[in-house]
Amino acid sequence: MKKDLDWSSLGFGYIATDYRYSSKFKDGAWDEGQLITDSMITLSECAGVFQYAQTIFEGLKAYSTKDGHIVCFRPDLNAARMADSAKRLEMPVFPEDRFIDAVCQVVKANQDWVPPYGSGATLYIRPYMMGTNPVIGVKPANEYEFRVFATPVGPYFKGGAKPIVIKVSDFDRAAPHGTGHIKAGLNYAMSLHAIVTAHEEGFAENMYLDPESRTKVEETGGANFIFITKDGTLVTPKSDSILPSITRRSIMYVAEHYLGMKVEHRPVYFDEVKDFAECGLCGTAAVISPVGRIVNHDTVIDIPAGMEEMGPVTKKLYDTLTGIQMGSIEAPEGWIKKIC
Ligand code: PLP
Ligand code: COI
Repeated sequence: MKKDLDWSSLGFGYIATDYRYSSKFKDGAWDEGQLITDSMITLSECAGVFQYAQTIFEGLKAYSTKDGHIVCFRPDLNAARMADSAKRLEMPVFPEDRFIDAVCQVVKANQDWVPPYGSGATLYIRPYMMGTNPVIGVKPANEYEFRVFATPVGPYFKGGAKPIVIKVSDFDRAAPHGTGHIKAGLNYAMSLHAIVTAHEEGFAENMYLDPESRTKVEETGGANFIFITKDGTLVTPKSDSILPSITRRSIMYVAEHYLGMKVEHRPVYFDEVKDFAECGLCGTAAVISPVGRIVNHDTVIDIPAGMEEMGPVTKKLYDTLTGIQMGSIEAPEGWIKKIC
């Protein structure tokens, strides 16, 4: 029986669901892992996660399809990205096939929490891993816990699909050099001050520029950028210091192979932004969220697509991507993992 929630009015928040997955790493090996019901974690005060922020995470979603199944979208890419994150933080890799299996187990065990097709909500899945044993010298932990929980969510930005207003951040996305492409807690901790500042000033998000020259567009706190030129080309920033968004990579494919669009993945200069016809943020949480205005101190860039609704090309990309995710449009081989 589905849980009695008002699915359509969910925001992007945490609701504890019934089951989560846990596997522990000790003496050089992962245990067999299991579903558990306890949402709390008790650790040493000196655990590596608390002292030196040795923690990484992933984010993906499960969807109810039109024909009554539950699926998730490209979990293999999340497994691979988490392996990259683990290596960069000197953590053991949780085997990629086991990552996918753990995600499937958690979704299946919590299927009553998966929002119904057409509700506008989805089940957000959060795999994460942390160093658990006491570490006082600066070095990696040697015991770890890999966990997966799931929580039903609605739109990431208040107002659903309405275009948002963002600012160019005066802060750098101050991830240590070379870690921007991994999903580690420390990167996000360093963006919190910028996010709070932007929200206090009434902006929904930050546009970060490259810290070295402050001339190139990087990403936002939780999504990559997509732009549409006046002649309908998809342009998306290429940078070694942004997260390689799975949504962005999927949109690039969809634009080219489903919609016959020209796609450019290249450095994007802030000076070019005023010339684009449409702008959006893309990510698992953001899906594709349109941006209507970008403010850089006294300079205001009004995106021609406006503040009322998604631009027409963004809408086509949105409809095609979500159609693939929710089973109304045929997916490329291997993109959809059927869970039940
Ligand atoms: N950039 C950042 C900083 C993010 O946190 C996310 C979310 O995961 C993304 C981009 C989008 O990545 P994905 O499409 O894989 O969810
Ligand atoms: C995701 O989209 O999965 C993210 O990690 C973004 C986060 C801001 C919720």
